[in-house]
Amino acid sequence: MGKIVEKLGEIGIIPVVAIDDAAAAVPLGQALLDGGLPCAEITFRTAAAADAIHNMSTAHPDILVGAGTVLTVVQAKAAKAAGAKFIVTPGFDAAVVDWCLANELPITPGVMTPTDINQALAKGLNILKFFPAEAAGGVKALKAIGGPYAGIKFIPTGGISANNLADYLRLPMVHACGGSFMVAKQLIADGKFDAIRDLAATAVNIVKSVRSVG
Ligand code: 3PG
Repeated sequence: MGKIVEKLGEIGIIPVVAIDDAAAAVPLGQALLDGGLPCAEITFRTAAAADAIHNMSTAHPDILVGAGTVLTVVQAKAAKAAGAKFIVTPGFDAAVVDWCLANELPITPGVMTPTDINQALAKGLNILKFFPAEAAGGVKALKAIGGPYAGIKFIPTGGISANNLADYLRLPMVHACGGSFMVAKQLIADGKFDAIRDLAATAVNIVKSVRSVG
């Protein structure tokens, strides 16, 4: 569990992908690699998710490929079978968390309230997705909600863009951020992989610039 989630923290930004054509996962992975972003969360928002996870992780073993929007144990099993190395869920679901823990599949469940965080803490989890970050009140809300939980780190996701990414990354309780802005569904559908590469590189540069300041 530790090493994979640690690696996501080092990368700093997780592209959240919704893909309709599983074959596009291969050039998409290449665009992410070319942009310097060796990870992807492929969401079960589309029927192609499991095949896309399989295709990207097979073609690009250097990319840390995980599954997002995992709502059920059935989806978690499909994600693992397809090669997903981590699981992200929008909310806290005890059955999905328990299955992932029992199967040594790293999971960052979504939380938005102290009650959600307490449930995750009770399972021994300490790196959690904060979702939906902007709609829940953004940086200000995360600072307030995270305040009492000294040992917990968050992956804010939902409404993150190149304009607010740095604000989140500067918070000490932020492990990494997630966002679809560099892998917009339409860009993938239109095959605009050069644009995706450039947006990925922009995101990576924002991470580097925040972290170089320390
Ligand atoms: C998710 O599935 O985590 C979110 O939809 C990603 O949010 P964004 O599209 O606002 O980046």
